[in-house]
Amino acid sequence: MALAELSTSYTKTATRYHFSQLSLSSASSRFSDHFRRSFRPTPRTRNATISCSVTSDQVQARIPVEAESPKGKTECYGVFCLTYDLKAEEETKSWEKLVNIAVSGAAGMISNHLLFKLASGEVFGPNQPIALKLLGSERSIQALEGVAMELEDSLFPLLREVRIGINPYEVFQDAEWALLIGAKPRGPGMERAGLLDINGQIFAEQGKALNAVASHNVKVIVVGNPCNTNALICMKNAPNIPAKNFHALTRLDENRAKCQQLFLQLALKAGVFYDQVSNMTIWGNHSTTQVPDFLNARISGLPVKEVIKDHKWLEEEFTEMVQKRGGVLIQKWGRSSAASTAVSIVDAIKSLITPTPEGDWFSSGVYTNGNPYGIVEDIVFSMPCRSKGDGDYELVKDVIFDDYLLKRIRKTEAELLAEKRCVAHLTGEGIAYCDLPEDTMLPGEM
Ligand code: LMR
Repeated sequence: MALAELSTSYTKTATRYHFSQLSLSSASSRFSDHFRRSFRPTPRTRNATISCSVTSDQVQARIPVEAESPKGKTECYGVFCLTYDLKAEEETKSWEKLVNIAVSGAAGMISNHLLFKLASGEVFGPNQPIALKLLGSERSIQALEGVAMELEDSLFPLLREVRIGINPYEVFQDAEWALLIGAKPRGPGMERAGLLDINGQIFAEQGKALNAVASHNVKVIVVGNPCNTNALICMKNAPNIPAKNFHALTRLDENRAKCQQLFLQLALKAGVFYDQVSNMTIWGNHSTTQVPDFLNARISGLPVKEVIKDHKWLEEEFTEMVQKRGGVLIQKWGRSSAASTAVSIVDAIKSLITPTPEGDWFSSGVYTNGNPYGIVEDIVFSMPCRSKGDGDYELVKDVIFDDYLLKRIRKTEAELLAEKRCVAHLTGEGIAYCDLPEDTMLPGEM
């Protein structure tokens, strides 16, 4: 065990760290002349807006018929500054009310895959117009402008509004979904406790901002690592938002467990494709202690252990492959997973807005209070969930446990409790005390 108090210097742990989620730098940099011309940030926030000028009785169409006078519209440019006469558009009559989606780390690689999926209608459907509220840092704001330009150039009819900025209190205004991707990567010499602290501060601030300005039923999906504990911090700083609305993204781990190199190996051994793998739970932390549950998972409707007789392989190779997939990928790519993470965010959202297929479930890191599994309360822990498609979920009751599964669950639970102690100063629970287990780490830390 490595012991550290956040008020003092951190005790060195014997692990190497590789945080490669998106970076939010606090280093200040000057906006380019181009940015200054295109956007007029307010002196306080340097927020910028690209908004489509449609009136309430209008919906968006592709043909601009009248441009607003540049005067009074200097904060937008290009296609988003034009006003459209949409009354004649048949297709838009079926559109739903606009949904506000906030994304942090919006200039990074994961977002670069995700935003275009969101804007295309792939996630929320062809009748759902959306507004994108993109949060970056001072350092990334120019890149964020580039992202906005690419969104503009993509001519997505459903994309009604784009805002970019660096102040979460402005960017998160009225957000109904908050996809929190941006987090600090571990810097040279930084201890795991230090990383928890730095990222925890980001998520504490973003929790406060969501609490203050977002929709009070906003659904929050935390992606930036360590995502379970960041989600807990965010939740604790947002007391007006239901605790149930906070998720830590473990869908990537679930997908990995089903995928070709991992669960497909189960499927290949069983002679089926991975779409036949169901009821796949990831228990616990998005770290190398996570538990891919082959006891409750099914292949073509049958328990995995009945289909795959090599139980030693399940317990050892399969489990470790899922746990360490992120790190192996970093070794190959030289950077953290981005496209597959974006896909798993899409899957996570879709799982909440579409009814879960009969008999199946999905994994999400959610608040443990009231869980039926005996997992310690007041942490964010990946568990099996089902949704009616209304954005909410229920925990699945009919799962079974054996000694192997329980032992693994206890280990990932202990790790999350240690992380929680380490961020107590950010959750309003007193003085932080870091005794993080040395043998566990994020999937990306090898
Ligand atoms: C992943 O699972 O791919 C990432 O969380 C790894 C990392 O540390 O960025």
